[in-house]
Amino acid sequence: MMTVTRRETFSASHRLYNPAFSDAQNEAVFDKCNNPNGHGHNYELEVTVEGPVHPDTGYVVDLKQLKEVIRREVIAKVDHKHLNHDVEFLRGVIPTAENIALAIWKVLAERIPSGQLVSVRLRETENNVVEVRGGK
Ligand code: NI
Repeated sequence: MMTVTRRETFSASHRLYNPAFSDAQNEAVFDKCNNPNGHGHNYELEVTVEGPVHPDTGYVVDLKQLKEVIRREVIAKVDHKHLNHDVEFLRGVIPTAENIALAIWKVLAERIPSGQLVSVRLRETENNVVEVRGGK
């Protein structure tokens, strides 16, 4: 078995805010990320697929097909968007890096051209990265 990773980037804005919290609680929990008009990030997404190397192609997964799936199903829907308002697959969740990565996992898991999705990593800032792992 082998893993193959495709990297994509997108830029988006969000606001971390829980409508069930008071203003003071939101301020305490989310601090600067609770800014009422939001703020932006340049996100880096890494999608890792695991599987055997197909003898006919030498590929685990055709990276061109994987790229097209990620761009169509994720990047086109989040790039230059406001993640609290514009993205159907994030409806009703607080768009933390954790929740964005989980939602991307759900979008991609059934759409991987071959092999199996094993990791979605999302870098929100230079120093902050989250990863969802799953698979068999
Ligand atoms: Ni943020």
